[in-house]
Amino acid sequence: MLEGANIRYARPSDATSIGEVYAETWQDTYPAALPINKLARLSKDALARQWFVRIKSAQGAYRTSDAVIVATTAQGRIVAFGDCGVNRRPQYRFASEVYTLYVLPDYQQFGLGTRILGALFDHLRNYKKNTVVVWALIDNPNRHFYSGLGGEIIGEYKTTHWGSAVTEVGYGWHNLKEWLSENDEALRIKR
Ligand SMILES: CC(C)(COP(=O)(O)OP(=O)(O)OC[C@H]1O[C@@H](n2cnc3c(N)ncnc32)[C@H](O)[C@@H]1OP(=O)(O)O)[C@@H](O)C(=O)NCCC(=O)NCCS
Repeated sequence: MLEGANIRYARPSDATSIGEVYAETWQDTYPAALPINKLARLSKDALARQWFVRIKSAQGAYRTSDAVIVATTAQGRIVAFGDCGVNRRPQYRFASEVYTLYVLPDYQQFGLGTRILGALFDHLRNYKKNTVVVWALIDNPNRHFYSGLGGEIIGEYKTTHWGSAVTEVGYGWHNLKEWLSENDEALRIKR
């Protein structure tokens, strides 16, 4: 546990910090999986602009499952985030999808990833979604985190990223209501 850490919905003013967490975590996680020169050129400014739009649209979406959730330290620094919404690959029969989950390297293994995932699941459940899928690069060893939290491998998906062929592995949860009831209340986001 990280003493004093807080899980909350993102605000548009968080976009710059989210862009930084995104860029730093990608550069730390994907050097073996994605082109290193492109990783090095990730623009924090461009990411901040993208996340500003994403947070605004999630906030503005009335009664939809979109959400961006952050974890902050006791001092209020954003060190992790994740987002979710509708399932983008309807050939897989899941109601919703977690699109991202990134924890800064120095803050990994303190329970923040679990708490954000739990908060995203709680949010989805509040919008009547009971099934969810997460896709992770097959070359990302961190994907085993999802099986530890009950995700079942549901298949592989071949696609391209930055022009490189990549394979993603899907992890599915078939009953969020049950998952939430079996997991600590503390996972749930404070409203
Ligand atoms: C993967 C990630 C989200 C996990 O979040 P975290 O805050 O570090 O993990 P937690 O502290 O919540 O760990 C919870 C449990 O998962 C396990 N776990 C954590 N990282 C793991 C990993 N890489 N592989 C296997 N299990 C892992 C922990 O050991 C812990 O198990 P325990 O409760 O039995 O001790 C985070 O490490 C991360 O952002 N990594 C880099 C980016 C990434 O790969 N994101 C996922 C993209 S799909």
